[in-house]
Amino acid sequence: MGTFQSLSLDPPLVSFSVARASGSWPRIRVGGGSTAGVLSADQHHICHALSRKQEDKFASVDWTASVNGCPRVTGALAWIDCEIRHELDGGDHLIVVASVSDLAAESGEPLVFHRGRFGGYREISAA
Ligand SMILES: Cc1cc2nc3c(=O)[nH]c(=O)nc-3n(C[C@H](O)[C@H](O)[C@H](O)COP(=O)(O)O)c2cc1C
Repeated sequence: MGTFQSLSLDPPLVSFSVARASGSWPRIRVGGGSTAGVLSADQHHICHALSRKQEDKFASVDWTASVNGCPRVTGALAWIDCEIRHELDGGDHLIVVASVSDLAAESGEPLVFHRGRFGGYREISAA
Protein backbone atom coordinates (compact mmCIF):
# COMPACT_ATOMS: atom_id res chain seq x y z
CA MET A 1 0.00 0.00 0.00
CA GLY A 2 1.37 3.34 -1.04
CA THR A 3 -0.40 5.14 1.80
CA PHE A 4 0.67 2.82 4.63
CA GLN A 5 2.56 4.57 7.41
CA SER A 6 3.58 4.32 11.02
CA LEU A 7 1.26 6.49 13.13
CA SER A 8 2.05 5.89 16.82
CA LEU A 9 4.59 3.93 18.84
CA ASP A 10 2.65 3.92 22.13
CA PRO A 11 0.19 2.44 21.49
CA PRO A 12 1.50 0.88 18.26
CA LEU A 13 -0.73 2.20 15.48
CA VAL A 14 -0.47 2.42 11.72
CA SER A 15 -2.64 4.18 9.17
CA PHE A 16 -3.41 3.76 5.50
CA SER A 17 -5.96 5.10 3.04
CA VAL A 18 -8.36 3.02 1.00
CA ALA A 19 -10.24 4.23 -2.08
CA ARG A 20 -13.98 4.31 -1.41
CA ALA A 21 -14.33 2.45 -4.72
CA SER A 22 -12.22 -0.47 -3.49
CA GLY A 23 -13.83 -3.85 -4.06
CA SER A 24 -11.58 -5.58 -1.54
CA TRP A 25 -12.06 -3.26 1.41
CA PRO A 26 -15.63 -4.28 2.40
CA ARG A 27 -14.45 -7.91 2.71
CA ILE A 28 -11.32 -6.94 4.66
CA ARG A 29 -13.35 -4.73 6.99
CA VAL A 30 -15.75 -7.58 7.83
CA GLY A 31 -12.76 -9.69 8.88
CA GLY A 32 -11.56 -6.88 11.14
CA GLY A 33 -7.89 -7.28 10.30
CA SER A 34 -5.28 -6.82 7.62
CA THR A 35 -1.62 -7.64 7.08
CA ALA A 36 0.69 -5.14 5.40
CA GLY A 37 3.89 -6.26 3.75
CA VAL A 38 7.12 -4.59 2.71
CA LEU A 39 8.04 -6.25 -0.58
CA SER A 40 11.62 -6.82 -1.62
CA ALA A 41 13.03 -5.25 -4.79
CA ASP A 42 12.66 -8.51 -6.73
CA GLN A 43 8.94 -8.84 -5.86
CA HIS A 44 7.62 -6.22 -8.31
CA HIS A 45 5.56 -8.92 -10.06
CA ILE A 46 3.73 -9.50 -6.75
CA CYS A 47 2.99 -5.80 -6.35
CA HIS A 48 1.66 -5.83 -9.90
CA ALA A 49 -0.64 -8.79 -9.15
CA LEU A 50 -1.94 -7.32 -5.88
CA SER A 51 -2.67 -3.88 -7.34
CA ARG A 52 -5.03 -5.17 -10.05
CA LYS A 53 -8.76 -5.50 -9.55
CA GLN A 54 -9.45 -9.23 -9.48
CA GLU A 55 -11.42 -11.68 -7.36
CA ASP A 56 -8.45 -13.53 -5.83
CA LYS A 57 -5.38 -11.30 -5.88
CA PHE A 58 -3.35 -13.91 -4.00
CA ALA A 59 -4.03 -16.78 -6.42
CA SER A 60 -0.57 -16.45 -8.00
CA VAL A 61 1.23 -15.36 -4.81
CA ASP A 62 2.93 -17.55 -2.18
CA TRP A 63 1.72 -16.62 1.29
CA THR A 64 1.12 -17.95 4.78
CA ALA A 65 -1.78 -17.06 7.05
CA SER A 66 -1.45 -14.82 10.09
CA VAL A 67 -3.25 -15.73 13.34
CA ASN A 68 -6.35 -13.90 12.09
CA GLY A 69 -6.09 -15.52 8.63
CA CYS A 70 -4.66 -12.57 6.71
CA PRO A 71 -2.04 -13.31 4.02
CA ARG A 72 1.62 -12.68 4.79
CA VAL A 73 3.51 -12.62 1.49
CA THR A 74 6.33 -15.18 1.47
CA GLY A 75 9.73 -13.55 0.97
CA ALA A 76 8.59 -10.05 1.95
CA LEU A 77 11.09 -8.03 4.00
CA ALA A 78 8.46 -7.35 6.65
CA TRP A 79 4.89 -8.13 7.58
CA ILE A 80 2.70 -6.16 9.99
CA ASP A 81 -0.53 -7.74 11.29
CA CYS A 82 -3.12 -5.07 12.08
CA GLU A 83 -6.55 -4.83 13.64
CA ILE A 84 -8.84 -2.17 12.26
CA ARG A 85 -9.79 0.42 14.90
CA HIS A 86 -11.14 3.54 13.13
CA GLU A 87 -12.26 4.69 9.71
CA LEU A 88 -12.16 8.43 9.05
CA ASP A 89 -13.40 10.50 6.14
CA GLY A 90 -10.64 11.20 3.64
CA GLY A 91 -12.53 12.51 0.62
CA ASP A 92 -12.66 9.81 -2.01
CA HIS A 93 -10.62 7.62 0.36
CA LEU A 94 -11.16 6.30 3.86
CA ILE A 95 -8.37 6.91 6.37
CA VAL A 96 -7.96 3.70 8.35
CA VAL A 97 -6.31 3.61 11.78
CA ALA A 98 -5.25 0.14 12.87
CA SER A 99 -3.43 -1.32 15.87
CA VAL A 100 -0.40 -3.54 15.36
CA SER A 101 -0.87 -7.02 16.81
CA ASP A 102 2.32 -8.64 15.52
CA LEU A 103 5.19 -7.92 13.15
CA ALA A 104 8.49 -9.22 11.83
CA ALA A 105 11.17 -7.71 9.63
CA GLU A 106 14.47 -8.63 8.06
CA SER A 107 17.05 -6.60 6.18
CA GLY A 108 17.22 -6.47 2.40
CA GLU A 109 16.53 -4.16 -0.49
CA PRO A 110 12.91 -2.90 -0.49
CA LEU A 111 10.79 -2.35 -3.58
CA VAL A 112 10.17 1.32 -4.40
CA PHE A 113 7.24 2.59 -6.51
CA HIS A 114 7.80 6.04 -7.99
CA ARG A 115 5.94 7.83 -10.78
CA GLY A 116 4.32 4.60 -11.94
CA ARG A 117 7.55 2.62 -12.09
CA PHE A 118 9.29 0.08 -9.88
CA GLY A 119 12.85 0.46 -8.65
CA GLY A 120 15.16 -0.15 -5.70
CA TYR A 121 16.33 1.88 -2.73
CA ARG A 122 19.69 3.64 -2.71
CA GLU A 123 21.20 4.87 0.55
CA ILE A 124 22.90 8.27 0.42
CA SER A 125 25.47 9.47 2.95
CA ALA A 126 24.40 12.26 5.28
CA ALA A 127 27.55 14.36 4.84
C1 LIG B 1 2.40 0.66 -5.40
C2 LIG B 1 0.89 0.82 -5.27
C3 LIG B 1 0.37 1.30 -4.09
C4 LIG B 1 -1.02 1.46 -3.94
N1 LIG B 1 -1.49 1.95 -2.75
C5 LIG B 1 -2.83 2.11 -2.59
C6 LIG B 1 -3.35 2.61 -1.36
O1 LIG B 1 -2.63 2.90 -0.41
N2 LIG B 1 -4.69 2.74 -1.24
C7 LIG B 1 -5.56 2.42 -2.27
O2 LIG B 1 -6.78 2.57 -2.10
N3 LIG B 1 -5.08 1.95 -3.45
C8 LIG B 1 -3.75 1.79 -3.65
N4 LIG B 1 -3.26 1.33 -4.83
C9 LIG B 1 -4.20 1.01 -5.90
C10 LIG B 1 -4.85 -0.34 -5.62
O3 LIG B 1 -3.86 -1.35 -5.53
C11 LIG B 1 -5.87 -0.73 -6.67
O4 LIG B 1 -6.73 0.32 -6.98
C12 LIG B 1 -6.66 -1.88 -6.06
O5 LIG B 1 -5.83 -3.03 -5.98
C13 LIG B 1 -7.91 -2.21 -6.82
O6 LIG B 1 -8.50 -3.40 -6.24
P1 LIG B 1 -9.70 -3.36 -5.17
O7 LIG B 1 -10.86 -2.65 -5.80
O8 LIG B 1 -9.96 -4.79 -4.91
O9 LIG B 1 -9.24 -2.62 -3.94
C14 LIG B 1 -1.89 1.15 -5.00
C15 LIG B 1 -1.35 0.66 -6.20
C16 LIG B 1 0.03 0.51 -6.33
C17 LIG B 1 0.59 -0.02 -7.64
